[in-house]
Amino acid sequence: MRQQIVAGNWKMNQTLEEGIELTRLILEKIDKPKGLVVIAPPLTHLKEIGKMLKVRKHFHLGAQNCHQEEKGAYTGEVSANMLASVGCEFVIIGHSERRQYFKEKNDVLAAKVNVVLSKGMRPIFCCGEPLHIREVDTHVGYVAKQLKASLFHLNEADFRKVVIAYEPIWAIGTGRTASSQQAQEMHHAIRVLIAKKYGKGVADSTSILYGGSCNAQNAAELLSQPDVDGGLIGGASLKADDFAVIVAAMK
Ligand code: 13P
Repeated sequence: MRQQIVAGNWKMNQTLEEGIELTRLILEKIDKPKGLVVIAPPLTHLKEIGKMLKVRKHFHLGAQNCHQEEKGAYTGEVSANMLASVGCEFVIIGHSERRQYFKEKNDVLAAKVNVVLSKGMRPIFCCGEPLHIREVDTHVGYVAKQLKASLFHLNEADFRKVVIAYEPIWAIGTGRTASSQQAQEMHHAIRVLIAKKYGKGVADSTSILYGGSCNAQNAAELLSQPDVDGGLIGGASLKADDFAVIVAAMK
């Protein structure tokens, strides 16, 4: 069976002190998760929060981004090697906010995926369509293009390490979630696409997470869908009680 995963993307929120307290509460409220729990705090918190997660089974440290180059004169950037050196096991790549505000394109994202894998970490690769694409009903083709351009160069062994997160842009931080049918439709289409490229065995073992206004109220319905293998959670991952409810909704 494929892994169920709930990942908290804290984005640019929480001071170190607040983040430590949030982690303490999360660890207190979540006892034995049915799948993996990934916490992706800001870079400045990775080491401290990583120490707290390390002593607990099923909890893993993630980063929200990394640079595509190994090292060098890239002021202000962080390399995959640095993330691995502080205990990161996952790196979110291609979040729509990175695509929108930092103009990250499919080819750069492919390079980021490569460098993350080369350092022994797993990319959580984000895809998803803007509202105008959904409105003209071309969302499946749009997402397929993103996946093909940034992931389908991988060999099978590397592809098996990738986690995919479908995050429709119109649902991120808007309170407007995709319906469970809309999520299931896209997750199924992604799995069919993977099966065509890598075979059914790989497709069936790829974890595909849903993200976009997933919260304590709607998580059970979304995560119960057969092709939804967990969630990538923004706002609700900053509230320990809500995050614990979402984690408990894993199949
Ligand atoms: P929200 O859960 O705040 O909508 O954010 C989703 C997201 O972007 C997670 O990466």
